[in-house]
Amino acid sequence: MPTALIIGASRGIGLELVRQYRAAGWRVIATARQEADCETLGALGAEPHRLDVNDVDAVAGMGWKLDDEQLDVAILNAGVYGPRHDGFPVQADFDNVMHTNVLAAMRLLPMLAPLVASRRGKLAVLSSRMGSLSERHSAVGSLYRASKAALNSVLIDTALTFGGHGVTCVAFHPGWVRTDMGGATADITPEESAAGIRDTLATLPASDKATYITYDGKAIGW
Ligand SMILES: NC(=O)c1ccc[n+]([C@@H]2O[C@H](COP(=O)([O-])OP(=O)(O)OC[C@H]3O[C@@H](n4cnc5c(N)ncnc54)[C@H](OP(=O)(O)O)[C@@H]3O)[C@@H](O)[C@H]2O)c1
Repeated sequence: MPTALIIGASRGIGLELVRQYRAAGWRVIATARQEADCETLGALGAEPHRLDVNDVDAVAGMGWKLDDEQLDVAILNAGVYGPRHDGFPVQADFDNVMHTNVLAAMRLLPMLAPLVASRRGKLAVLSSRMGSLSERHSAVGSLYRASKAALNSVLIDTALTFGGHGVTCVAFHPGWVRTDMGGATADITPEESAAGIRDTLATLPASDKATYITYDGKAIGW
Protein backbone atom coordinates (compact mmCIF):
# COMPACT_ATOMS: atom_id res chain seq x y z
CA MET A 1 0.00 0.00 0.00
CA PRO A 2 1.53 3.39 -0.95
CA THR A 3 2.04 5.92 1.85
CA ALA A 4 1.46 9.68 1.81
CA LEU A 5 2.44 12.20 4.48
CA ILE A 6 0.51 15.48 4.61
CA ILE A 7 1.92 18.19 6.91
CA GLY A 8 -0.76 20.73 7.90
CA ALA A 9 -3.95 18.77 7.28
CA SER A 10 -6.54 20.34 9.61
CA ARG A 11 -8.54 22.12 6.89
CA GLY A 12 -8.50 23.45 3.35
CA ILE A 13 -6.34 21.76 0.71
CA GLY A 14 -4.42 19.64 3.24
CA LEU A 15 -7.55 18.05 4.71
CA GLU A 16 -8.90 17.35 1.22
CA LEU A 17 -5.62 15.69 0.20
CA VAL A 18 -6.00 13.36 3.20
CA ARG A 19 -9.60 12.54 2.22
CA GLN A 20 -8.68 11.77 -1.38
CA TYR A 21 -5.55 9.70 -0.67
CA ARG A 22 -7.56 7.66 1.87
CA ALA A 23 -10.42 7.20 -0.62
CA ALA A 24 -7.84 5.93 -3.14
CA GLY A 25 -6.71 3.30 -0.62
CA TRP A 26 -3.44 4.89 0.48
CA ARG A 27 -1.99 4.75 3.95
CA VAL A 28 -1.92 8.38 5.13
CA ILE A 29 0.13 9.98 7.90
CA ALA A 30 -1.18 13.48 8.61
CA THR A 31 -0.36 16.30 11.00
CA ALA A 32 -2.41 19.04 12.65
CA ARG A 33 -1.82 21.52 15.46
CA GLN A 34 -4.97 20.81 17.49
CA GLU A 35 -6.04 17.58 19.16
CA ALA A 36 -9.61 17.92 17.81
CA ASP A 37 -8.24 18.12 14.24
CA CYS A 38 -6.12 15.02 14.88
CA GLU A 39 -9.29 13.21 15.96
CA THR A 40 -10.98 14.22 12.69
CA LEU A 41 -7.96 12.94 10.75
CA GLY A 42 -8.05 9.68 12.69
CA ALA A 43 -11.75 9.27 11.88
CA LEU A 44 -10.81 9.54 8.18
CA GLY A 45 -8.46 6.58 8.65
CA ALA A 46 -5.27 8.63 8.68
CA GLU A 47 -2.53 8.24 11.29
CA PRO A 48 -2.55 11.64 13.01
CA HIS A 49 0.33 13.43 14.73
CA ARG A 50 0.20 16.79 16.47
CA LEU A 51 2.65 19.22 14.92
CA ASP A 52 3.07 22.97 14.93
CA VAL A 53 5.69 23.45 12.24
CA ASN A 54 7.05 26.46 14.16
CA ASP A 55 7.81 24.36 17.25
CA VAL A 56 11.40 23.20 16.76
CA ASP A 57 11.15 20.49 19.43
CA ALA A 58 7.95 19.12 17.90
CA VAL A 59 9.61 19.09 14.46
CA ALA A 60 12.58 17.17 15.85
CA GLY A 61 10.18 14.79 17.61
CA MET A 62 8.35 14.24 14.32
CA GLY A 63 11.68 13.25 12.80
CA TRP A 64 12.06 10.51 15.40
CA LYS A 65 8.46 9.32 14.93
CA LEU A 66 8.93 9.04 11.17
CA ASP A 67 12.39 7.50 11.40
CA ASP A 68 11.54 4.11 9.84
CA GLU A 69 8.93 5.33 7.36
CA GLN A 70 9.17 5.04 3.59
CA LEU A 71 7.08 7.69 1.84
CA ASP A 72 5.80 7.58 -1.75
CA VAL A 73 4.50 11.14 -1.41
CA ALA A 74 5.26 13.81 1.19
CA ILE A 75 3.46 17.17 0.96
CA LEU A 76 4.35 20.21 3.05
CA ASN A 77 1.02 22.05 2.90
CA ALA A 78 1.06 24.19 6.08
CA GLY A 79 1.21 27.85 5.23
CA VAL A 80 -0.04 31.31 6.21
CA TYR A 81 -0.79 34.40 4.15
CA GLY A 82 -0.10 36.99 6.84
CA PRO A 83 -1.37 40.57 6.83
CA ARG A 84 -3.93 41.53 4.18
CA HIS A 85 -2.26 44.92 3.70
CA ASP A 86 1.05 45.96 2.21
CA GLY A 87 1.85 48.68 4.72
CA PHE A 88 4.84 48.81 7.06
CA PRO A 89 5.48 45.18 8.10
CA VAL A 90 5.57 44.58 11.84
CA GLN A 91 8.04 42.07 13.25
CA ALA A 92 5.40 39.63 14.49
CA ASP A 93 3.79 39.34 11.03
CA PHE A 94 7.15 38.96 9.32
CA ASP A 95 8.25 36.27 11.77
CA ASN A 96 5.00 34.33 11.56
CA VAL A 97 4.96 34.25 7.74
CA MET A 98 8.66 33.57 7.29
CA HIS A 99 8.85 31.00 10.08
CA THR A 100 5.79 29.07 8.91
CA ASN A 101 6.42 29.23 5.16
CA VAL A 102 10.24 29.16 5.02
CA LEU A 103 12.01 28.22 8.26
CA ALA A 104 9.76 25.20 8.79
CA ALA A 105 10.57 24.01 5.26
CA MET A 106 14.31 24.41 5.91
CA ARG A 107 13.88 22.09 8.90
CA LEU A 108 11.36 19.62 7.51
CA LEU A 109 12.47 19.03 3.91
CA PRO A 110 15.94 17.63 4.76
CA MET A 111 14.25 15.39 7.33
CA LEU A 112 11.60 14.10 4.91
CA ALA A 113 13.73 13.74 1.78
CA PRO A 114 15.58 10.55 2.87
CA LEU A 115 12.23 8.91 3.70
CA VAL A 116 11.00 9.80 0.19
CA ALA A 117 14.29 8.66 -1.38
CA SER A 118 13.72 5.15 -0.03
CA ARG A 119 10.66 4.89 -2.34
CA ARG A 120 12.06 7.12 -5.12
CA GLY A 121 8.96 9.22 -4.45
CA LYS A 122 7.69 12.81 -4.71
CA LEU A 123 8.41 15.57 -2.20
CA ALA A 124 6.05 18.50 -2.72
CA VAL A 125 5.52 21.91 -1.14
CA LEU A 126 2.45 24.08 -1.46
CA SER A 127 4.05 27.18 -2.89
CA SER A 128 2.08 29.74 -4.92
CA ARG A 129 2.26 31.42 -8.29
CA MET A 130 2.72 34.57 -6.18
CA GLY A 131 6.24 33.34 -5.37
CA SER A 132 7.39 33.49 -8.99
CA LEU A 133 10.11 36.09 -9.67
CA SER A 134 10.09 35.78 -13.46
CA GLU A 135 6.28 35.93 -13.88
CA ARG A 136 5.50 38.70 -11.40
CA HIS A 137 3.07 41.42 -12.47
CA SER A 138 1.74 42.65 -9.11
CA ALA A 139 3.24 43.64 -5.75
CA VAL A 140 0.10 42.83 -3.74
CA GLY A 141 0.87 40.49 -0.87
CA SER A 142 4.57 41.36 -0.83
CA LEU A 143 5.44 39.48 2.37
CA TYR A 144 3.62 36.34 1.26
CA ARG A 145 5.31 36.58 -2.17
CA ALA A 146 8.74 36.88 -0.55
CA SER A 147 8.03 33.86 1.64
CA LYS A 148 6.93 31.67 -1.26
CA ALA A 149 9.93 32.77 -3.37
CA ALA A 150 12.15 31.77 -0.45
CA LEU A 151 10.26 28.49 -0.08
CA ASN A 152 10.96 27.81 -3.77
CA SER A 153 14.64 28.47 -3.10
CA VAL A 154 14.63 25.95 -0.25
CA LEU A 155 12.97 23.39 -2.53
CA ILE A 156 15.56 23.94 -5.30
CA ASP A 157 18.34 23.36 -2.74
CA THR A 158 16.56 20.22 -1.54
CA ALA A 159 16.54 18.92 -5.12
CA LEU A 160 20.25 19.73 -5.50
CA THR A 161 20.97 17.72 -2.34
CA PHE A 162 18.51 14.82 -2.67
CA GLY A 163 17.52 14.75 -6.36
CA GLY A 164 20.42 12.42 -7.11
CA HIS A 165 19.07 10.03 -4.46
CA GLY A 166 15.74 9.58 -6.24
CA VAL A 167 13.67 12.39 -4.69
CA THR A 168 11.51 14.33 -7.18
CA CYS A 169 10.93 17.81 -5.72
CA VAL A 170 7.81 19.77 -6.71
CA ALA A 171 6.59 23.28 -5.87
CA PHE A 172 2.84 23.56 -6.54
CA HIS A 173 0.61 26.49 -7.25
CA PRO A 174 -2.66 24.85 -6.10
CA GLY A 175 -4.87 27.25 -8.05
CA TRP A 176 -6.85 30.02 -6.41
CA VAL A 177 -8.80 27.79 -4.05
CA ARG A 178 -11.98 28.37 -1.99
CA THR A 179 -10.49 27.84 1.48
CA ASP A 180 -10.10 30.08 4.52
CA MET A 181 -7.02 31.51 2.81
CA GLY A 182 -8.36 31.76 -0.74
CA GLY A 183 -11.79 33.09 0.25
CA ALA A 184 -15.30 32.34 -0.97
CA THR A 185 -14.90 33.90 -4.42
CA ALA A 186 -11.81 31.90 -5.47
CA ASP A 187 -11.74 29.97 -8.76
CA ILE A 188 -11.77 26.32 -7.74
CA THR A 189 -12.80 24.02 -4.88
CA PRO A 190 -10.38 22.21 -2.57
CA GLU A 191 -11.65 18.99 -4.18
CA GLU A 192 -10.54 20.14 -7.67
CA SER A 193 -7.19 21.40 -6.38
CA ALA A 194 -6.37 18.25 -4.41
CA ALA A 195 -7.46 15.98 -7.28
CA GLY A 196 -5.19 17.89 -9.65
CA ILE A 197 -2.24 17.76 -7.25
CA ARG A 198 -2.67 13.99 -6.83
CA ASP A 199 -2.98 13.32 -10.57
CA THR A 200 -0.02 15.55 -11.36
CA LEU A 201 2.16 13.88 -8.75
CA ALA A 202 1.14 10.45 -10.03
CA THR A 203 2.03 11.23 -13.65
CA LEU A 204 5.02 13.55 -13.20
CA PRO A 205 8.20 11.82 -14.41
CA ALA A 206 10.98 11.33 -11.88
CA SER A 207 13.51 14.16 -12.00
CA ASP A 208 16.59 15.24 -10.08
CA LYS A 209 15.67 18.89 -10.77
CA ALA A 210 12.99 20.83 -8.90
CA THR A 211 9.75 21.50 -10.78
CA TYR A 212 7.41 24.50 -10.34
CA ILE A 213 3.92 23.75 -11.65
CA THR A 214 0.24 24.42 -11.23
CA TYR A 215 -2.06 21.82 -9.65
CA ASP A 216 -3.02 20.74 -13.20
CA GLY A 217 0.54 20.34 -14.36
CA LYS A 218 1.35 23.59 -16.21
CA ALA A 219 4.90 24.92 -15.83
CA ILE A 220 5.56 28.21 -13.96
CA GLY A 221 8.77 30.23 -14.32
CA TRP A 222 10.74 30.39 -11.06
N1 LIG B 1 -6.06 28.84 -1.14
C1 LIG B 1 -5.37 29.35 -2.16
O1 LIG B 1 -5.92 29.98 -3.09
C2 LIG B 1 -3.88 29.15 -2.22
C3 LIG B 1 -3.19 29.69 -3.34
C4 LIG B 1 -1.82 29.52 -3.43
C5 LIG B 1 -1.14 28.79 -2.45
N2 LIG B 1 -1.82 28.28 -1.38
C6 LIG B 1 -1.04 27.52 -0.38
O2 LIG B 1 -1.64 26.26 -0.17
C7 LIG B 1 -1.44 25.83 1.19
C8 LIG B 1 -2.78 25.46 1.82
O3 LIG B 1 -3.62 26.60 1.71
P1 LIG B 1 -5.15 26.59 2.14
O4 LIG B 1 -5.84 27.49 1.19
O5 LIG B 1 -5.65 25.20 2.36
O6 LIG B 1 -5.01 27.37 3.55
P2 LIG B 1 -5.89 27.32 4.89
O7 LIG B 1 -7.27 26.86 4.61
O8 LIG B 1 -5.67 28.67 5.51
O9 LIG B 1 -5.13 26.19 5.75
C9 LIG B 1 -3.81 26.41 6.16
C10 LIG B 1 -3.31 25.12 6.79
O10 LIG B 1 -1.96 25.37 7.26
C11 LIG B 1 -1.92 24.99 8.63
N3 LIG B 1 -0.92 25.75 9.38
C12 LIG B 1 -0.74 27.08 9.43
N4 LIG B 1 0.24 27.40 10.28
C13 LIG B 1 0.69 26.21 10.78
C14 LIG B 1 1.68 25.86 11.73
N5 LIG B 1 2.43 26.78 12.36
N6 LIG B 1 1.89 24.54 12.00
C15 LIG B 1 1.14 23.61 11.40
N7 LIG B 1 0.16 23.88 10.50
C16 LIG B 1 -0.05 25.17 10.21
C17 LIG B 1 -3.31 25.28 9.16
O11 LIG B 1 -3.51 24.65 10.40
P3 LIG B 1 -4.49 25.31 11.55
O12 LIG B 1 -5.89 24.89 11.20
O13 LIG B 1 -3.99 24.71 12.82
O14 LIG B 1 -4.32 26.80 11.49
C18 LIG B 1 -4.14 24.71 8.00
O15 LIG B 1 -4.19 23.30 8.08
C19 LIG B 1 -0.74 27.00 1.89
O16 LIG B 1 0.65 26.75 1.96
C20 LIG B 1 -1.02 28.19 0.99
O17 LIG B 1 -0.03 29.20 1.08
C21 LIG B 1 -3.17 28.45 -1.25
